[in-house]
Amino acid sequence: MRSVNIGICGLGTVGAGVYNVLGRNSKQINSRANCDLVISQVGARRDNPNCDTNGTDVSRDIFDVAKNPDIDIVVELIGGTDVAHKLVMTALENGKHVVTANKALIAQHGMEIFAAAEARGLIVAYEAAVAGGIPIIKALREGLSGNRINWLAGIINGTTNFILSEMDSKGREFADVLTEAQEKGYAEADPTFDVEGIDAAHKLVIMTSLAFGMPLSLDGIYTDGITKLEPQDVSYARELGYAIKHLGITRQTGQGVELRVHPTLVPESCLIAGVNDVSNAVMVNADAVGTTLFYGPGAGSEPTASSVLADIVDVARTMGAGADSWVPALGCNTTALQTQPIMAIQDIETSFYIRFSALDKPGVLSDITGIMANAGISIEAIIQKEQPAGEDYVNVIILTNVTKEKLLDAAVEHIEQLETVRGSVTFIRVEHLDQ
Ligand code: HSE
Repeated sequence: MRSVNIGICGLGTVGAGVYNVLGRNSKQINSRANCDLVISQVGARRDNPNCDTNGTDVSRDIFDVAKNPDIDIVVELIGGTDVAHKLVMTALENGKHVVTANKALIAQHGMEIFAAAEARGLIVAYEAAVAGGIPIIKALREGLSGNRINWLAGIINGTTNFILSEMDSKGREFADVLTEAQEKGYAEADPTFDVEGIDAAHKLVIMTSLAFGMPLSLDGIYTDGITKLEPQDVSYARELGYAIKHLGITRQTGQGVELRVHPTLVPESCLIAGVNDVSNAVMVNADAVGTTLFYGPGAGSEPTASSVLADIVDVARTMGAGADSWVPALGCNTTALQTQPIMAIQDIETSFYIRFSALDKPGVLSDITGIMANAGISIEAIIQKEQPAGEDYVNVIILTNVTKEKLLDAAVEHIEQLETVRGSVTFIRVEHLDQ
């Protein structure tokens, strides 16, 4: 069998996973790749105690790997965007195919990288960039290529889902769970990327590009994280029969493409509401197949390595046939991509959960329902919580029917101006994900 030489750059959580799993499963992987996959060189600034590289050429300079004339596929697992960008461009300039798990790199520099690869007939593969071990890129690129995709919605950040699950089921503190997620190797080097929704935004942009044939761009995406989410809303949502999940949502509408990342109430009856811990899940609704759900571990060493290895096998099998043997677009055929307008968040239509603190006296609720009625917003449920002893104010929770966000914004502003309402109004979007 021919040999295909691999250079791994980065020996952190994912790099060590790739090295170890390839060693452990080499017989099966080689037979699927139809070649001998050989790790010829590793580039890493330091060793990883979870990975015994004895017998492999290890360089402290990752650029040695990108320029190594013996290497066919460079696997970029260093993360970040500056050095990773230079590394990948250097690898392409040196005629290497590239496999990467780097969503920030693909979301921000993907168009330049793909154009460079295309010009040289090289492949850039990035299955591990989205949803860890779930083969969602392959599903969108190949498995659903007979469909027109209508929308997709996913839990696409494992750290955030882990934090929300622990807060919900065990009442744990946010900071404490985040520390555990970091220790387990789920979180990004800068965990604000996880908890502020930036990592999910990168992944959503990549899936949107594949789903709707658009160039990669973060322009216009609405991004909100989980740092402002209050535990009381998690438990009120449960009382109403909903879970709060941090979702990335994209939808093709007549007015443009919705592109948004934010905490969302989803009915407990929806499968995605039961996706907990570090798991990810992506629902894809398409015209022929209907709704599909892709579920699995969204982060971690070997789950992510599983996706990296799938790309290595694909690249090794097809590299002799040229990049255009890959189906379809993004990385192979960037000229076919078409920009579409991204909808402003104020123009999207959805249901809402709202909570505020109101004086417990006659007429207050009717003022509030009057404001909602005047804004043309229909109320699906309203709950007034019993006030604690000695308190004049009560928490009021309202679930609305589907409305335009700008109408909700105007109603919220009006409610906040009432003398009988204390503080600001909290609102969280609700998605039923049923059509
Ligand atoms: N920090 C990411 C997450 C890693 O928690 O989902 C996987 O992309």
